[in-house]
Amino acid sequence: MSEVLVICGSLRKNSFNRIVVRTLPELAPAGMKLKDAKPFDTFPFFNADIQAAGGFPAEVQAFAEDIRAADGVLFVSPEYNFSIPGALKNAIDWVSRLPNQPFRGKPVAIQSASTSPVGGARMQYHLRQTMVFVEAVVFTKPEIFIAHAQTKFDEQAGTFNDETGRGLIKKQLEGFAKFIERLGPCE
Ligand SMILES: Cc1cc2nc3c(=O)[nH]c(=O)nc-3n(C[C@H](O)[C@H](O)[C@H](O)COP(=O)(O)O)c2cc1C
Repeated sequence: MSEVLVICGSLRKNSFNRIVVRTLPELAPAGMKLKDAKPFDTFPFFNADIQAAGGFPAEVQAFAEDIRAADGVLFVSPEYNFSIPGALKNAIDWVSRLPNQPFRGKPVAIQSASTSPVGGARMQYHLRQTMVFVEAVVFTKPEIFIAHAQTKFDEQAGTFNDETGRGLIKKQLEGFAKFIERLGPCE
């Protein structure tokens, strides 16, 4: 049994990435429990002066505690301007300054849905780079890039209907479950 914390990089109510997050329980292997991360859109912009004055905001600590407690973390995010959406990057910047930094040794997987033909690939490479600095261990294949996202979702129904994409996500989650098991608990 593993618990995977899911962090959605979009704050948009009818977000394609949020629809993927809602679809994950249908696609996850038996024994994988998925939990939504706490919201990070109320975090102040990271500023070391805030940290020096009063320590870390309570919501940052609570967000980080969920990362620490999880067996793995799954990011599901769009690409903004070829990179990581600002609010998500800000959340990662905050938790990266914590003592007992929560990403250290943590298995991480990434999925992205974006409207371009490469489906958020450039965001994924930047996120992988960031995860290197925080010493996470990032799962590799299969990669999940949901390209031309506007054609793959029923926005009214809030469903992700692309059979190829659903099959790949299933495979990725199965692989990620084995990856978590192989790595064992983070120290
Ligand atoms: C500020 C901004 C920048 C964007 N930059 C990119 C980009 O670099 N590549 C891309 O594929 N889509 C880009 N898009 C389009 C997003 O892929 C699209 O808005 C997508 O629906 C966002 O995901 P969501 O539906 O989960 O919110 C951008 C959108 C915004 C709002």
